[in-house]
Amino acid sequence: MAEVVILPQEQLVELATAQILDRLHQNPEMVLGVATGSTPMPIYERLATSGADFSRARAFALDEYVGLPESHPQSYHHVVDSSVTKPLGFKPQNVHVPNGNPETIIHAGADFEAKIAAVGGIDIQILGLGTNGHIGFNEPGSSLSSRTRVKVLTEKTRMDNSRFFDSIDEVPGHCITQGIGTILESKQLLLLAFGKKKAKIAHAMLEGPVTASVPASAIQLHRHVSVLLDEDAASELENANYYRYVWEHKLGGQALG
Ligand code: GLP
Repeated sequence: MAEVVILPQEQLVELATAQILDRLHQNPEMVLGVATGSTPMPIYERLATSGADFSRARAFALDEYVGLPESHPQSYHHVVDSSVTKPLGFKPQNVHVPNGNPETIIHAGADFEAKIAAVGGIDIQILGLGTNGHIGFNEPGSSLSSRTRVKVLTEKTRMDNSRFFDSIDEVPGHCITQGIGTILESKQLLLLAFGKKKAKIAHAMLEGPVTASVPASAIQLHRHVSVLLDEDAASELENANYYRYVWEHKLGGQALG
């Protein structure tokens, strides 16, 4: 079973931050998988103010839009650079984002997979949750064993993400994303979801069947996954009280692990 933690957002951010710092302490060259979107931003802010040394650590992003120049403020190259690489002090050559250039897109997925393999895999992958159940940009119907590849974004995702652009017409129609199979190979997953708009899909992800129709439900197959939900995101869970009980009775203290 996934470890499910239901607490106020600030405490979840503290738990996730502590887990990452703990891993960095064990291995200064750790490989961190970073998500974009709003949810993980407070973790990056906390890591940045922790004073921890990420100069030898490596990072891999989950996804990128196809066809946005890297310098575009909403390209994930730009977002990762300004919210992770610079504030945490990663060396730019140690941070990898899938290449969304249409001219080289044919081999961009395989190139990215090779880079992950070359560092021995991702140690901790941070994940957000799309309102339609996507992780990375794996939209409903994505193969549960998929690898990094191009996907067509759903209208729902383009609508959700239009808040970052001037209008929905500016949101690209295609993306390149780590596959679900790729994500499942990370050694540890930390999935965070905040707010009422994630409640239904959090229930489907954790308590529904494993199905390509809810790509995030694939995390049920992972051996080491923590799902961090605030009260609103947890409000549709059937077994919320049991998850709270398990967390309170955790042997060895209340840290993720
Ligand atoms: C985006 C990203 C995902 C992210 C998700 C949720 O489209 N591609 O990696 O996890 O949607 O975003 P948010 O955290 O803003 O709700």
